[in-house]
Parts: sequence; C-alpha cells; structure tokens
Amino acid sequence: MITLIVGTNRPGSNTRKVARHVEEIYAALNVPLHVLDLAELPPEIFSSASYAQKPKSFLPFSEAVLRSAGLHVVTPEYNGSVPGVLKYFIDMLKFPESFERRPVCFTGLSAGIWGALRPIEQLQAIFGYRNAYLFPERVFLPRINELLDDAGRLKDPELLQRLKSQAEGFVDFVERLQKITLRG
Ligand SMILES: Cc1cc2nc3c(=O)[nH]c(=O)nc-3n(C[C@H](O)[C@H](O)[C@H](O)COP(=O)(O)O)c2cc1C
Repeated sequence: MITLIVGTNRPGSNTRKVARHVEEIYAALNVPLHVLDLAELPPEIFSSASYAQKPKSFLPFSEAVLRSAGLHVVTPEYNGSVPGVLKYFIDMLKFPESFERRPVCFTGLSAGIWGALRPIEQLQAIFGYRNAYLFPERVFLPRINELLDDAGRLKDPELLQRLKSQAEGFVDFVERLQKITLRG
C-alpha cells in the first residue's frame, strides 16, 4: 500500500484538489492507496500532552504510515516553507521506524512562481535525516490558481501526464526497493 499525505489542513485547499488527481492516478494503476488528509487530524493531537502520549485517535494516522510500502507527500508552500501542520504531523509520528528506509515521493504546489520547490527541498532534508529513500522525480506546480478550473481540476493534460509519470516511476521504485508487487 502507498500512503498519500495531504500536507495541509486548510479548508478547501488546492493541495486536496491536486491530491485527488494523484489518488485517481494510483487507482488507474491498480495500486492500493491510503489517504491521510491532515484536515482530518483529531483535535487532541494538537494538545502539548501529545509529545509524551499520543491520543488513541491518532493511531489510524501513525499506523497507516508504518504499514505503508511508500509515502507520497503532496505539499503546498507556506511562507517559503513546509506548512506547520505537516512538520508537526511528522514530529508526532513514531521515531525512528516511520521513515527509516521507507520510499518517499514529493509533489508540490504554490500560488507563486516557485511551485513549492523550497518546501520540497526542506522535506528532502527532513526525510533524508530520517533515512528515508528519496524518489528523485519531483513535481512542482507553480501558479496553482491558474492551473485549476472552477471544479478544482487541472486544466493542462501535460501536467496530468507529469503526475502520472511520477506515480508510475514511484511504484517501480517502491516495488524494487521493497521487493513487492503493488500493481494488482
Ligand atoms: C499561511 C500561508 C502561507 C503561504 N505562503 C506562500 C508562499 O510563501 N509562497 C507561495 O507561493 N504561496 C504561498 N501561499 C499560497 C499557497 O501556496 C496557495 O494557497 C496554494 O493554493 C497552496 O496552498 P493550499 O493547499 O492551502 O491551497 C501561502 C498560503 C498560506 C495559507
């Protein structure tokens, strides 16, 4: 199973819209996918007591990461960086087993011209520190508000193709590293 992390909890986020395309791409590839949308994090996880004791309601999130053959993170750019909630989510996961030798793939989007290059490079540093296997093919979606139509769909077939090629490459990467078959 691949676990897809929707990297913000902002209501109505463009990240969720892009993640929906990624979900559809894995479905078309017949690859089992579990979506972790940070908008659905239980409020209790934001209590400072969670550093010491994780609430039971967080288990579906932390266990989904541990069970995954690979992680696909879709992140927006907030203040030239990773959204605070995504970093906090990472900080709440079990150490070190959550990312140790786990393949990870990054897709980013931003309102501005850099397309989340900065948060993705920051995530590569964080996941590298945690000994994850970084899939090198990244996708950046700059000026996201111009790329989506009113229904929240990407207008440019070339960008969809780029997301498809990334997902296909990532499935190959995971299958080879984990010595498993993901495609049903
Ligand atoms: C708190 C916050 C900070 C942001 N900072 C940046 C930024 O540094 N650079 C940028 O290009 N866009 C920035 N944006 C705009 C987001 O990239 C834009 O909202 C985009 O749609 C992706 O975020 P979303 O998933 O929340 O919609 C920011 C948005 C928010 C909510």
